Amino acid sequence: MQWAQRVNTVRVIGTGVMGRGIAQLAAAAGLTVELADARPEAVSAAVDHVGQMFDKLASKGRMTTEEAAAARDRLRLVDGPHTPTECDLVIEAVREDLQTKRELFAELEKICPPHTVFATNTSSLAVTSIATALADPSRLVGLHFFNPVPLMRLVEVIPGARTAEWLPDALVELVQRLGHQPVLATDTPGFLVNHAGRGLITEALQILGEDLAAPADVDRICRDVLGLRMGPFELMDLTGLDVTHPATESIWSGYYGDPRLRPSPITRARLEAGLLGRKVGEGFYAYVDGVKQEQPEPQAPPAETRPVWSDNPELLGVLEAAGVPVERGDEPSNVAVVLVTPYGHSAATAALSADLPLSRVCGVDPLNLEKRFTLTVHPATDPEFARSAWAALAATGRAVTVVRDGAGMIAQRLLASIVNTSCFIAEQRLATPTDIDTAVRLALGYPRGPLEWGQHIGPRRVLNVLRALHSATGDPRYRPSRWLVERAELGLELTGTGTTPKDLLA
Ligand SMILES: NC(=O)c1ccc[n+]([C@@H]2O[C@H](COP(=O)([O-])OP(=O)(O)OC[C@H]3O[C@@H](n4cnc5c(N)ncnc54)[C@H](O)[C@@H]3O)[C@@H](O)[C@H]2O)c1
Repeated sequence: MQWAQRVNTVRVIGTGVMGRGIAQLAAAAGLTVELADARPEAVSAAVDHVGQMFDKLASKGRMTTEEAAAARDRLRLVDGPHTPTECDLVIEAVREDLQTKRELFAELEKICPPHTVFATNTSSLAVTSIATALADPSRLVGLHFFNPVPLMRLVEVIPGARTAEWLPDALVELVQRLGHQPVLATDTPGFLVNHAGRGLITEALQILGEDLAAPADVDRICRDVLGLRMGPFELMDLTGLDVTHPATESIWSGYYGDPRLRPSPITRARLEAGLLGRKVGEGFYAYVDGVKQEQPEPQAPPAETRPVWSDNPELLGVLEAAGVPVERGDEPSNVAVVLVTPYGHSAATAALSADLPLSRVCGVDPLNLEKRFTLTVHPATDPEFARSAWAALAATGRAVTVVRDGAGMIAQRLLASIVNTSCFIAEQRLATPTDIDTAVRLALGYPRGPLEWGQHIGPRRVLNVLRALHSATGDPRYRPSRWLVERAELGLELTGTGTTPKDLLA
């Protein structure tokens, strides 16, 4: 029988938020779970909590009463982390401190039998660094669960530099036995999910830093245009800047200052000011009794009769159906409001290259016209024409967000950053394309995996957005990854590995 099928007893050390979730999952899957913590009261609280969770699941019909009772019986309180044991696996979920984790494993190595496998649930420390505390570092592996453990199905399995070769696959199998979804990640800063998640967060902060749009505008665009459950500023408020900012700094410095992962001085200042987010009632939003306070959106001006010309037939169709007068000629008349819909370039750049009358030109992001329009206004726009454009778009019944014009507008550049970050991950072979997409969908709740999403939008379009941003700003954070460039140019799928020298040896 394989190791994962033979595992019978697991010791969970550190019975806080994560440890109790891991204990619940393991006991529900039929494993005997020894719970230990430096604070004995934390163990009894965890056992009570997990027992209540089983009762709740039984009352909802998700487990039978007998199964709940049996799962509860599999929980064993132990006196301390170093109480002798014959367990097959230790999962450590103590506080996030390298020295604490090293000391814990060094002690465990003295009391556990040689067959015991060690796993760490660290979210930001290097598995390899933790393993240096062991005389035999080959027995330690990263097993990164997400909060709340029973609901978040994804688990990253992370071998360190000296982890035994058989262990990652064995842990993958064990995670499957627990009913969760494993992915293999490398022992690199942020592992897979937290690295991939920097694409959205850092770009949203870049947009805010450029004063292109307010946090609530960016969040609305993310929900309505990109289909995210939560915008980046809502997400930072939920996670707390005390977690998000240091995590971003540590991933960035872990990659020796790679500009695509650059943290923002905005979150540094807000963190220092104590504007942590939901938990303190003040973040990018205010919270009253835990409920987010969102200002109503500004009212669009009343509809008018100026005709609209656009380079986008789909947009003209939507406007016409709403009763807006439209022009369908090759060029706009002298009175028309002009709506350009570029991928990548700003509206102003697009207007200049098409020789359109700048003062009457606004941009509309063509990415998704279903629910919300993003209207961009450049410095040479005549405000009268911009108001007419706003009124025309609002006449369709869709919401309209008015932002400053810029390359990639808002949704396109956020999406390009999400896709490019994951393309870098794929390019460096930090995870397989399938695992990248699976991990991001499950852990970050994006509607599609980032590589699949880039493929859906079109690799060339994503590349155009990044190149336009790179040329407009000169900022190396927008350099496209080779994975994206090659696939866009060779007409290959972003989700495939393509041929490598290794394929010649197969
Ligand atoms: N909270 C999350 O969202 C999350 C997600 C993924 C990973 N993690 C990681 O999981 C680990 C635990 O995080 P948490 O949020 O559950 O923390 P927590 O503060 O809720 O729980 C930590 C527990 O560890 C105990 N502890 C501290 N030092 C100990 C020691 N030397 N020996 C035994 N017990 C000790 C504490 O008493 C406490 O009960 C950390 O490494 C964290 O980075 C957390």
